[in-house]
Amino acid sequence: MSRQFSGIQPTGDMHLGNFVGAVGRWVQDQDDGLFCVVDLHAMTLPYDPAELTAGTRRLAALLLAAGLDPDRCTLFVQSHVPVVTELTWILNCVATVGELRRMTQFKEKGHGQESVSAGLLDYPVLMAADILLYDSDEVPVGEDQIQHVELTRDLATRFNHRFGDTLVVPKATVPPVGARIKDLQNPTAKMSKSVDSPQGTILVLDDPKVITKKVKSAVTDSDTAVRFDVEQKPGVSNLLALLSVATGRAIPDLEAEYGTSGYGTFKAAVAEALVEYLRPTRGRYEALVADPAELTRSLARGATKAEAIASATMDRVRSATGLLPTT
Ligand code: TYM
Repeated sequence: MSRQFSGIQPTGDMHLGNFVGAVGRWVQDQDDGLFCVVDLHAMTLPYDPAELTAGTRRLAALLLAAGLDPDRCTLFVQSHVPVVTELTWILNCVATVGELRRMTQFKEKGHGQESVSAGLLDYPVLMAADILLYDSDEVPVGEDQIQHVELTRDLATRFNHRFGDTLVVPKATVPPVGARIKDLQNPTAKMSKSVDSPQGTILVLDDPKVITKKVKSAVTDSDTAVRFDVEQKPGVSNLLALLSVATGRAIPDLEAEYGTSGYGTFKAAVAEALVEYLRPTRGRYEALVADPAELTRSLARGATKAEAIASATMDRVRSATGLLPTT
């Protein structure tokens, strides 16, 4: 059986792009998958330690609320399995500085900064270690992470070539619709936690009234046709993609229904569908954060399950790379 692994950063609150591009798919296809709150990745940019602790708990609770079931999959916190940093070091000796400097996200996040942490440059190697530590076959992500998964493939292939067949070479999977959800106020940019565009970003825990307001004020164009055309009509196309994911209906079908309805009617339908799509998660979240002991137990259980897979991989890696065994 093919094993899924994916992760999400506890930075800011989970938004609709995360949900559509990744988390919603994890839930649908969760059996035997591993899903991780990547707290070590969140340290690559300046951050507040207390907020990292609180954000990690909130995000784990939100993933459970979204439908990840610890009886069916493994949900854990990245730093609870510390050998990931050992594998990162070993992969650092396989990766080159040149290939890391070419990563689009490094260039974007480092752009205009006077100094960037070595951790930011190394971010994709830590991500490769996540994926390779758990012998992952498939990595369900949004479009912005494809380049990092490609680098992971390159590192695994290079490692295997140098040290013998040791690591599973994974592949990224992206959703057919919604791999890059756009900001509602600026529909050529992706919806993102780091961009300061609260009106253009729908949070998974936003109140229904807030969701409706954000959708109704989404930037469209001066035309009136509801048609999927990313170049000419980025705003409308983004809303069509969201409506398609939230209702499970194909885009041509939605174009046929709303093509001439006018933007007001169309936006009302999008808002209603999104409220319903996110309602179950919102409903379950409050109960989950109210029981911190249960959350701690679920995460400890996840870490134990993840650790068992990780330690078998590390035995293979240490032996292949020539590190002296302790016994
Ligand atoms: P992060 O935390 O930025 O995002 C989590 C997931 O959400 C997807 N995503 C989107 N999908 C569609 N439209 C958008 N606007 C949008 N914004 C975000 C991301 O592609 C991602 O799948 N480096 C990763 C976390 C990570 C990871 C891993 C992922 C660490 N280790 C191992 C997979 C495997 C990140 O920062 O994702």
